[in-house]
Amino acid sequence: MALSIGVDVGGTKIAAGVVDDEGKVMARLQKDSPANNRDAIMTTIIDCVNELRAQVEGVATVGVGAAGFVSSDRNTMVSGTNLDWTGVKIGDVVSAGTGLPVVVENDANAAGWAEARFGVGAGRSNVLVVTLGTGVGGAVIIDGRLVRGAAGFAAEIGHITIVPGGRPCGCGLRGCLERYGSGTALGMNGYELARFRPDYAARIIELSGGQVRDISGKAVTMAAREGDAAALECYEQLGDALGQGLADLAAVLDPEVVVLTGGMTEAGAILLEPVTKAFSTYLTARSRRPEIPVLISSSGQDAGLIGAADLARA
Ligand code: BGC
Ligand code: NA
Ligand code: ZN
Repeated sequence: MALSIGVDVGGTKIAAGVVDDEGKVMARLQKDSPANNRDAIMTTIIDCVNELRAQVEGVATVGVGAAGFVSSDRNTMVSGTNLDWTGVKIGDVVSAGTGLPVVVENDANAAGWAEARFGVGAGRSNVLVVTLGTGVGGAVIIDGRLVRGAAGFAAEIGHITIVPGGRPCGCGLRGCLERYGSGTALGMNGYELARFRPDYAARIIELSGGQVRDISGKAVTMAAREGDAAALECYEQLGDALGQGLADLAAVLDPEVVVLTGGMTEAGAILLEPVTKAFSTYLTARSRRPEIPVLISSSGQDAGLIGAADLARA
C-alpha cells in the first residue's frame, strides 16, 4: 500500500493528512494559515508533513494543493491570489524540508480530483467541481481526466466576470465570481446590507459583536441558521451569482454533475437551495437536456488533501 501525505493550503487554514491508495485518511491535522507570510506558510507545510510522518510510517510522496495559479511544472506558484506566495517554488522548498518527492497542484483541482475519483462524482467521467471557501476555485474533469490547460491554469472559475465593473478582486480584475460567490463575498453581502438597512440586518450585526465592519461570512451563516431573513437574503444573492456562473460553465462543459466542496458547504441546504434554483434558471435548454444535479461533497473538508495526496502518487 502506497501512502501519500496531502496538504491543502487555503487562505484560512492548512489541512494535512496521510492518505492510502483508496483515498482513506489515516491521520490528519490542521493549522491556521499564515496567509500573509510566505516563509511562515512554507514552514507550516513542512511542519505538517514532518509531524504526520512521525505518526505513520511508510509515507513515500507529498502532494500540496495550493490556492492560486500553479504552473504546469507542478512546482511553482505563479500567482497566489489570496496568499502571499507568488513566485515561490513550493515543491522545491517542501522537498528540501522533508526529503520527499513533492507534487504541487491547484487546491481546487486537488479537491475536484478527490470528488471525481472517490467522492460523489465517482463513476462519472464528466464532472464540474467548485470549491467555496475564502476564494472560489474549480476543477474540470472531462472524459475522466483533470483538465490542466496550456499553462496549468485551467478551471480558475473564480475569476470569470459575473458583474462587469463590479467588486475589485485580488487577481487584478473586477466583478469576478469569487467576489460574489465566496465566503468572503457572503460577509460582504452582509456588510453592505447592514450599512444601508441596519434594522433589517440587526441580528447579523449582533452576531458580529455589534460592529458592522466586523461582519463576516461566519456571522451571516449563523444568522441564516436561525432563519434570519436578512441573512437568508445574503445567501440568495450569493446563490444567484454562483448559480449563474455554474450554468454558464455547464453550457460550455455539459457535465453529468456539479459538485460543491469547501468550507462553505457546511451550510448545507442554506447554500444548496439558492444555488440550485439559480442554476436551473440560467441553464440553457434545461427542459430538453438530462438533469445536471448539483451535489454537496461527501468528503467534508478532506477533499483537498485527499486529492493532493492521490495526484502526487500518480
Ligand atoms: C484562486 C484559485 C483557488 C481558489 C480556491 C482562488 O482565488 O485563484 O487558484 O483554487 O481561490 O482556493
Ligand atoms: Na482549479
Ligand atoms: Zn478575480
